[in-house]
Amino acid sequence: MTAIQGYVPPITESGALGVHSLDQFVLSVPDMNVADEFYTNFGLNMVRNGNSLQLKTFGHDHGWGSVIEGKAKALHHLSFGCYAEDISRLKARIEGEGVKLVDPPPGFESNGFWFRNHEGVLMEIKVAPKVSPDHKSDSQWMTVPAGKAAATVRASAPPVRPRRLSHVLIFTSDVLASIKFYERTLGLRLSDRAQDLVAFMHGIHGSDHHMLALVKSSAPGFHHCSWDVSSVNDIGLGAMRMHDKGYQKGWGLGRHVLGSNYFHYIMDPWGSFSEYSCDIDYIPKEDRWPSADHAPEDSFYLWGPDVPREFTLNCEAGEV
Ligand SMILES: [Fe+2]
Repeated sequence: MTAIQGYVPPITESGALGVHSLDQFVLSVPDMNVADEFYTNFGLNMVRNGNSLQLKTFGHDHGWGSVIEGKAKALHHLSFGCYAEDISRLKARIEGEGVKLVDPPPGFESNGFWFRNHEGVLMEIKVAPKVSPDHKSDSQWMTVPAGKAAATVRASAPPVRPRRLSHVLIFTSDVLASIKFYERTLGLRLSDRAQDLVAFMHGIHGSDHHMLALVKSSAPGFHHCSWDVSSVNDIGLGAMRMHDKGYQKGWGLGRHVLGSNYFHYIMDPWGSFSEYSCDIDYIPKEDRWPSADHAPEDSFYLWGPDVPREFTLNCEAGEV
């Protein structure tokens, strides 16, 4: 059982102002074709859009992520979506916090506004449809009556197609300062944390247990993007197929404590990860999650293989 070291009260914001979704994450990578191949094999629908490659899920119009060409793999920016009636108040609040607005990067002009976080990471807030879920995503335990076989033969197993982006986890040199920054600017709320090592934040309009997660490092960087699939079977099938395609490093199968999701992480060609995730906890908009500070050794994962060394490295900070 998780040891709860102390209740961490949520920040009360006037008017409960906040973004509703992580609209998109954008990575720069040295070779777009390598990205195309990796994410296509992962089960995403890759769509070329000018100089960028959009990461979509089949059956959904939204671009959950993008990759653009750059010298090395790096987190280029995070874009958050808000309601139209909130954008001017969000902008005023952020400027009131002393955060300077900046010009959009070429090719990413929008109805929104741009700024850098306390560590220089580029962020956008724009008016956009809510793409974070409005309720807990269904997950399936596929079973059949006695006298029937539940598993298919391998050749007829369907493709694994993630349904949506769940969250991203980014490195930060100061987890506690980052929590404060995202509370005061984006209006995210702390779901749970483990000391100053890792923290999970959700949206106030209803979201997964975390739409943005933070982990301590020497510098900012992108650790993983997490994709919701409908069953643990899909997690296993996806991981095996990625292994067969040559993506053999990763971590899983396991189950997290904070967020409760089942997971398997696949290392991408640049040393960061993509996660197959199922059955993550959901925080409805009307709820106050009892966020707590947990013992790290008791809250990282409930069960799973030992954590490989490469899982903790920030390749953007030169840790390889
Ligand atoms: Fe995750």
